[in-house]
Amino acid sequence: MSDLAAQFREAFGRSAEGMWAVPGRINLIGEHTDYNDGFALPIALPHSLTVAAARRGDGRVRLRSHQFPEPHEFSLDGLVPGSVPEGAGYQAGALWVLLEEGHEIGGLDLLVDSTIPAGSGLSTSAALCCATILAATGLYGDEPAPAQVARLAQRAENDFVGMPCGIMDQSAVMLAEEGRALFLDCRSLATGSEPFDLAAQGLSLLVVDTKAPRRLVEGAYAERRGSCEEAGRVLGVAALREIAGPSLQEALERLPEGPIRARVRHVVTENDRVLQTVELLRAGRLREVGPLLTASHVSLRDDYEVSVAEVDTAVEASLSAGALGARITGGGFGGCVIALVDSDRVEACTEAVRAAFAERGFGAPEVFTALPSAGARRLH
Ligand code: GLA
Repeated sequence: MSDLAAQFREAFGRSAEGMWAVPGRINLIGEHTDYNDGFALPIALPHSLTVAAARRGDGRVRLRSHQFPEPHEFSLDGLVPGSVPEGAGYQAGALWVLLEEGHEIGGLDLLVDSTIPAGSGLSTSAALCCATILAATGLYGDEPAPAQVARLAQRAENDFVGMPCGIMDQSAVMLAEEGRALFLDCRSLATGSEPFDLAAQGLSLLVVDTKAPRRLVEGAYAERRGSCEEAGRVLGVAALREIAGPSLQEALERLPEGPIRARVRHVVTENDRVLQTVELLRAGRLREVGPLLTASHVSLRDDYEVSVAEVDTAVEASLSAGALGARITGGGFGGCVIALVDSDRVEACTEAVRAAFAERGFGAPEVFTALPSAGARRLH
């Protein structure tokens, strides 16, 4: 019996009926493009969140988690946004959205454990929403397709938690495949499975969790999204996806001067970088992706203004230690950096990042290498 099964029995005094694992994600490139109907290219991490669950006949939900020691309990009846305490919001939101959309689910006992570093922008929240949807629909016999789970989980965050995220994180954790990168068209929701065989090219993907406190994340995220929508209105397009590279200059001139121009420039050039990256991956030219990663970082730092000092330090230190490219990954304002490095430079890059953090007086970062891993799956 797995640890989680034993812990479930201990927490609830009965056996779990099913268990699911949903990974965290990093985005290789294509940042702040998803809510502009653009392109993204995430992979799933080897780290995952697991949930064990059993049905209850009384319409109540009991939540336990190793990461949030405080237990929560609420009734499905009368569940509305704002009706549960903050720590229970993602899971309550996931169940609320299922009820809203007519899924026949009932009460649940749920126990969550996770190896995804929390608060690091590696999509614990998307994993938690997706895992809850999988458990509820799996046990009550009404399982949506994986892409549909992603859409429901996004709606839980948008409409219940109040985070206006796009669909990149949820798609990544549901649809990613081992050894591959997920090419996501956030307008059509079409996906491609792209080769991403690091080992075959003697490369490694370094992840630096900067541990920088992520401040004002939701407000600043919503503000960026609002600027993109405003630009779309001025330019007469439904989403910035419709501005292609060659018409960028003309589009910028039609916008009021100020940060809004820089935000649009980021989105348009970032979409282009994703397409270039996908072409390189398909041609087996993974090494050449490095400069695109670094260009993405510069754009996110200078035009989208979502970087912080710890993140820039990690990017610069890994580049100066020989990384082929490095960038912030995820929504920003802290979180993680990825660096594409020759495998024999992993140690040197790690040391360079650690030394630069120590020199700047930042707390020690967590550094690890990541292989593209499988998306969500039922364990039992
Ligand atoms: C967060 C959001 C995603 C996406 C990224 C930025 O992770 O949840 O939808 O917008 O930021 O690319």
